[in-house]
Amino acid sequence: MSRTLMVAGNWKLHKTVDESVALAQALLKGLQRKDLDVLIAPTFPAIHAVAQAVKGSPILVAGQNLYWQDQGAFTAEVSGPMLKAAGASHVIIGHSERRQFFGETEKTVNHRVNAALKAGLTPIVCVGETLEEREANQTADVLQSQLAGGLAGLDAKQAAKLIIAYEPVWAIGTGKTASEDQADQAHAEIRAWLGGRFDKNIENSVRILYGGSVKSANAAGLLNREHVDGALVGGASLTAEDFLGIIEAA
Ligand code: PGA
Repeated sequence: MSRTLMVAGNWKLHKTVDESVALAQALLKGLQRKDLDVLIAPTFPAIHAVAQAVKGSPILVAGQNLYWQDQGAFTAEVSGPMLKAAGASHVIIGHSERRQFFGETEKTVNHRVNAALKAGLTPIVCVGETLEEREANQTADVLQSQLAGGLAGLDAKQAAKLIIAYEPVWAIGTGKTASEDQADQAHAEIRAWLGGRFDKNIENSVRILYGGSVKSANAAGLLNREHVDGALVGGASLTAEDFLGIIEAA
């Protein structure tokens, strides 16, 4: 089964509204490829303006997180319906920085996945092992427990809407990329787990992005591998030149 490649940029805590719009416009101007999905995830304040700037273009917009209540007395949170109304179609969930610095757990990932689906947003669910876990040969176990917890209670119809991002924690922002073999093997394990937990269709159709120090120089090799369906890019998504370079290499 052929899966459409996706190159996604996670802008993290970078860029003002004006800077975000300028980058989105530069991407629009330089984007040549029409055969893959391109997605950008600005900060919350910039989502609406960026979504307006790319409206009608192939560039998709994502939130970097969401809360699982639609509204209420939850100071500083942002909900699925709010992201959707601001122009987002996707939302990143369970990024390792959320897990490391903001107390994200499998349970909160699961709440957010459900909330995203309910709001009609495509969840991009991040999983990945730390260096200690990899060195202790625990990678497969860690991925399985993150998937089992984060996707608990979902049925196949819901699972068909997911995108998974495999992001080894030791490769994020470190300049150390997983080798093509390491990435492909982890992706194959995730894919097999999806098949066992859901069904063959889910196994073959759900896209699994690789994230962790992706740049134009290593993108082609990684994205060529059978189970790697795209990239979730942090640092190299912050300039049009770098991000377009990855898109061109994909
Ligand atoms: P990086 O970040 O490309 O800067 O390593 C990847 C990510 O966190 O999604």
